[in-house]
Amino acid sequence: MFDIQQMVRKCILKRKEYIPGKPIEEVEREYGIPHIIKLDSNENPLGASPLAIEAMIREIKERSHLYPESLCYDLSRKLAVKFGLQSESIFIDNGADGVITMIGLTFLNPEDEVIFAEISFPAYDNIVAKMGAKSVKIPMRRDFTIDIDAMIKAIHQNTKLIFLCNPNNPTGLMTSKNEFEQLIAQTPENVLIISDEAYFEFADHEDYPDTLQYLKNHKNLIILRSFSKIMGLAGLRVGYAMAAPEIVKAMLKAREPFPVNRIAQAGALAALDDDAFIDKTKCLNQEGLHYFYDAFDAMGLTCYKSHTNFIMVDVGMDADFVFEELLKKGIIVRPLKAQGIKNGLRITIGLMEQNHRVIQALKEIFKGNIQNGKDK
Ligand SMILES: Cc1ncc(COP(=O)(O)O)c(C=O)c1O
Repeated sequence: MFDIQQMVRKCILKRKEYIPGKPIEEVEREYGIPHIIKLDSNENPLGASPLAIEAMIREIKERSHLYPESLCYDLSRKLAVKFGLQSESIFIDNGADGVITMIGLTFLNPEDEVIFAEISFPAYDNIVAKMGAKSVKIPMRRDFTIDIDAMIKAIHQNTKLIFLCNPNNPTGLMTSKNEFEQLIAQTPENVLIISDEAYFEFADHEDYPDTLQYLKNHKNLIILRSFSKIMGLAGLRVGYAMAAPEIVKAMLKAREPFPVNRIAQAGALAALDDDAFIDKTKCLNQEGLHYFYDAFDAMGLTCYKSHTNFIMVDVGMDADFVFEELLKKGIIVRPLKAQGIKNGLRITIGLMEQNHRVIQALKEIFKGNIQNGKDK
């Protein structure tokens, strides 16, 4: 008898489907509004690196009919040179998401425990659940930073992995060099620390840890990065890990044969050379962040110092309500209620005119709400 409930692995049956940010097309259809702005997935508002676009067009024309190089030879060599590593220390996959999945497939058995912050990137919990392992979620400190002491205390004999999202998504806050050093010093060698640095290019604070320097003496460290954020290549899906060659070799056995397509490899390779685009993105991001700090301050709203290209703000009322009202005005952001922050919104820093539109829309929503007698 065909009974899907009996056939599917129990840990998959229990999962809820992942709900990604709303696509522009869906909001246009639902609300009938043109000129939607999408500030919910921390993409680059400037688009993709122009050098990457040129390289991709060339690749499409000349080599679309050929399988890509499985090991992303040129890209892994270029990353290795850039970061002073051997190319055997580079593992590239279908987005940082793909790398996280491969970490799970390679290392997690059902009895294993995985430690990460309670409010952090959802992919950690997802992969742990899919592998039938156990998530150990560490409550945040009152200021929403990650409680490294509590993480260290949570390590015991079944711990296999620790995910540290730094800077953290969705808070935008960072773990300092001192705290990172504490974590790495007190984590046994048979427990892997994954430092997820999808936003590291935006984090130029002097206390932000340069984790590369620990790779040589800590074989249990995996550094995770992405081409989706500052490089503007989210649609292409390229992410990478830097780790000891033994780790990379093990993960290569779990990997699909061609996880990174040819166009994506060509685009990522060219994007690495586009310093002008990277600088322009950083400048725009800083300008946008400061605009939001000032605007939220003037509105009496609490926001958090961000080391990323997004900002978390406490809107002082149910974030799902504000999210819906913003949607009606053609603005997509991310409500954080599902992650346990009832009044929290995460807003990607956009182009300046988009940022102005967000603040204008929020003012209208709050004004309307007060006029309707709702509690702000
Ligand atoms: C902290 C963090 N890690 C990993 C990812 C996944 O990045 P990618 O697009 O490379 O899969 C994201 C994407 O938003 C992220 O915020």
